[in-house]
Amino acid sequence: MAIKKSNRKVLFLDSGIGGLVQMHQAYQKYPHLEYIYFADYLSLPYGNKSPVILRQNLYNIIKTLHAKFNFGTVVLACNTATSVAISYLREYLPSINFIGTEPAVNLAYHMGYRQILVLATHNTIRYNKTLWRFSLNPEIKLWLQAMPRLAQNVEVNIDDLSVAFTQIRPVISKYLNKIDCVVLGCTHYTLLKNSIEKFMSVPVLDGNLGVINRMANYVTEGKKAKIIFLTNEEKKLNRIQKLWDMLEDWR
Ligand code: DGL
Repeated sequence: MAIKKSNRKVLFLDSGIGGLVQMHQAYQKYPHLEYIYFADYLSLPYGNKSPVILRQNLYNIIKTLHAKFNFGTVVLACNTATSVAISYLREYLPSINFIGTEPAVNLAYHMGYRQILVLATHNTIRYNKTLWRFSLNPEIKLWLQAMPRLAQNVEVNIDDLSVAFTQIRPVISKYLNKIDCVVLGCTHYTLLKNSIEKFMSVPVLDGNLGVINRMANYVTEGKKAKIIFLTNEEKKLNRIQKLWDMLEDWR
């Protein structure tokens, strides 16, 4: 696909705070862009909604925001949105560059891992094409584990993520000593990356860096940063700001 270099405005979109970690990583590497973050809280969780509804919903949100902000690039900071809607959005909004977030199985494979556990939402496990492709690769063993409610658990326990981790421990402990790598197939789960790594004693990968490198091909940096946070559930705006401030403190 030919690369259309666009202006310096990028929209990052997720169902909640998951994609914010990715946008923060992008901001650290490329500070001189105009970042717009949209959390579609009204539709959280994406993981178990009908793909038809999700596609229409994402189309409407992006079209409305585009009319207002005129960004050239959209990062779907969400594996589920990418799995169910990226082809549709590229087809129906052809003037916008879309970058998707995929479970980093390709990366894991190229790093030499062969016993790979993928944690993702139900929709990602069901509809993601990269997972389908790698499931057919006889060189690797891919365990696909859906994590119902984990994205919401991360959201509500953002002040104490050990609570969210405690809830998933019984599920992931089934894979102890069977796998050589964990791939996080949902951007919300990146907030649990260190706990999962410590507990499973294997590397835990996400696809964030690949997304950011691809984004850089599409945008042109300016001289200053600008960051805008938006959501369709106003009372959750402070959750986004709070996590952003935490991410700034951690760096
Ligand atoms: N953060 C999202 C993902 O990467 C979606 C989680 C959800 O809303 O279910 O899949």
